[in-house]
Amino acid sequence: MENVIIIGAGGHAKVIADIVLRQGDRLLGFLDDSPNATGAYGIPVLGKVADYPLWPNARFLIGIGSAAVRQRFVNELRDIRWHTAIHPTAVISPLGTSIGEGTVVMANAVVNPGTTVGRHCILNTGSIVEHDNTIGDYVHISAGAKTAGTVTIGRNTWLGIGATVSNDLTVCPDCMIGAGTVVVKDIDAPGTYVGVPARRLE
Ligand SMILES: CC(C)(COP(=O)(O)OP(=O)(O)OC[C@H]1O[C@@H](n2cnc3c(N)ncnc32)[C@H](O)[C@@H]1OP(=O)(O)O)[C@@H](O)C(=O)NCCC(=O)NCCS
Repeated sequence: MENVIIIGAGGHAKVIADIVLRQGDRLLGFLDDSPNATGAYGIPVLGKVADYPLWPNARFLIGIGSAAVRQRFVNELRDIRWHTAIHPTAVISPLGTSIGEGTVVMANAVVNPGTTVGRHCILNTGSIVEHDNTIGDYVHISAGAKTAGTVTIGRNTWLGIGATVSNDLTVCPDCMIGAGTVVVKDIDAPGTYVGVPARRLE
């Protein structure tokens, strides 16, 4: 059993709290810089983010949806031990998969064989990552979004809720793929893409 602290105390952090508790770990509380941050469900706010060295034996997760913010904390918070949270209903193949540290896999998410998921990613509720994918660091695959077989998603890219990426495609780093968007060709330039099929939003 690990002692776990979540950085952030908003809605996303609460979902992660639920996963940590379901994993059977001990959730010590949240760290949040907002003066208005309150705990939730009896779980306290322990202090500010900079207070993290006060718990040298804890493991930490970042409960913040923004990839840029997650990346900033990973760069700034030295000598910190990251936790990986996997909801007990998530299905992660044991065959050739790996899940990077700091990543959160939510309820009913599926990761199929041969897939590598990077560090500090979010595989949100009911997302499906098919076989032989490469998912870069800080990627967020929103609730119900899907990637077909042999897809590569570049670092920091966010697939919106219900988005789909068809098989054998690459989406480059730093893209926002809008809710419900269907990607049917490689995306080579960072930007926001929406619609069916995906088109770049100028
Ligand atoms: C893609 C997105 C970021 C664009 O937001 P935005 O830059 O504020 O864009 P706007 O809302 O101003 O929309 C600009 C245009 O794109 C269209 N558009 C926006 N999102 C779209 C989408 N997902 N699919 C199709 N068209 C979309 C709008 O209808 C609008 O078209 P118009 O100019 O013809 O009127 C946002 O719409 C989105 O999809 N966010 C994802 C949210 C999400 O998945 N959250 C999940 C949390 S788990």
